[in-house]
Amino acid sequence: MRIRKAAVVGAGAMGGGIAYLFSAAGIPVTVKDVLPQQLDLAREHLKRVYQRRVDRGRLDADTMQESLERVSYALDYAAFGEVDLVIEAVPEDMRVKARVFRELGGVCPPHAILASNTSALSISEMGKASGRPQHVLGMHFFNPAHVMKLVEIIPGSATKDEVVNAVRALARRLGKEPVVVRECPGFLVNRVLMPYLNEAAICLQEGAASVPEVDAALGPDGFGWPMGPFTLMDMLGLDVCHHILAYLDAQYGERAQEAAVLRRLVGACRLGQKAGGGFYDHPGHARSEEVDRIVRELQASGQVDSPGSTFSVDRLVLALVNEAFLCLEEGIASGEEIDKACVAGLGMAVRLGGERVPMGPLTYAEHVGLEEVLGRLLHLERTLGRRFRPASVLTLEVAPGAESAAGDRGAGEAQC
Ligand code: CAA
Repeated sequence: MRIRKAAVVGAGAMGGGIAYLFSAAGIPVTVKDVLPQQLDLAREHLKRVYQRRVDRGRLDADTMQESLERVSYALDYAAFGEVDLVIEAVPEDMRVKARVFRELGGVCPPHAILASNTSALSISEMGKASGRPQHVLGMHFFNPAHVMKLVEIIPGSATKDEVVNAVRALARRLGKEPVVVRECPGFLVNRVLMPYLNEAAICLQEGAASVPEVDAALGPDGFGWPMGPFTLMDMLGLDVCHHILAYLDAQYGERAQEAAVLRRLVGACRLGQKAGGGFYDHPGHARSEEVDRIVRELQASGQVDSPGSTFSVDRLVLALVNEAFLCLEEGIASGEEIDKACVAGLGMAVRLGGERVPMGPLTYAEHVGLEEVLGRLLHLERTLGRRFRPASVLTLEVAPGAESAAGDRGAGEAQC
């Protein structure tokens, strides 16, 4: 099915970025929100992105005008009777999303595809709410949506193959690289990213390293990521990271337990760049005295598991690598697709010989050596806890038969 008209529900940063992609690809799009001021923000966001392209000589002013005219803004569903596809991009609250999907099921034509840009929540549940689960799937974009190349496509339990194929073709038309992912909490990329970001926050609260130290060690001049984990969390929104982590915590337990400092910062309304402060003070990206004070308070109140622990790049990167092996083990995606998704969705790269080389987590593990990775994970598990317990597939790959020994050892530690 070819998509001729589209709509986006939710005019936040992601909704605005997605509307830009449709308009730039020549597809008329309606952006709907319940708040007029959100629609104004989305209008400004689109203009800014187009204007930058004109200023850089990548687009002429007439094309910008035509593209902007392809976008309409609405406070109701009047235009939805003619759409071929809708992307929901409202806040990460299943009650809100279920209501939107119920409404979409009532107003969209029977053939329309209903997609969610959710970061982690159940597609099948949204499908049920819509009353037409065969037409519902996840279409997950990455922030900034107009820049990052990846689109995760997540079929729900009832999604028809032709719907998946249509959305895969649409993603390519929007200039993206689609990767189809089996449904699980957090899907693929957030599932591997969040333990990495959370470990950065754990290092901070344990006094292992400061915010700028962690970012310098992981960023472009350090490990090789395009930006450090705290800069990334400030860009994504600490509230967004908190919602995803709280959900993963509820779904996966122990190994995804959210760092207390993240919760405290969200409670203090330090939500990141958009709020003028997160892990850094903004604008200016300066080290924050308030964050340092909150860390000291957490340590003094005994809410930190391993105060005075040692920082290492491995703590963050191997948390991500291990989760990638768990995704491989569960068949969430193939090894090749896991690597492709992390490079296209997160810009993952490794600094080698002075160059940043794009590389996904499984190739990185091969590069380090699987035996070495297993050894380092076992050391982290012994010193920092069971969240680092190596994936079975890694243990079996290195030493078939070693899994039961590792299991015995883990059980022993839990009893001590
Ligand atoms: N907030 C929003 N947009 C930003 C930004 C920020 N903090 N920093 C840069 N950008 C935009 C710029 O405005 C620019 O847009 P235009 O092309 O329209 O001008 C574009 O990104 C490129 O910016 P720069 O030229 O300054 O390029 P850069 O080399 O510094 O790259 C970056 C910036 C693309 C953001 C790069 O640092 C990067 O790839 N970072 C990693 C981002 C990432 O991991 N995203 C995925 C997060 S996970 C997610 O989104 C899933 C979820 O559900 C939470």
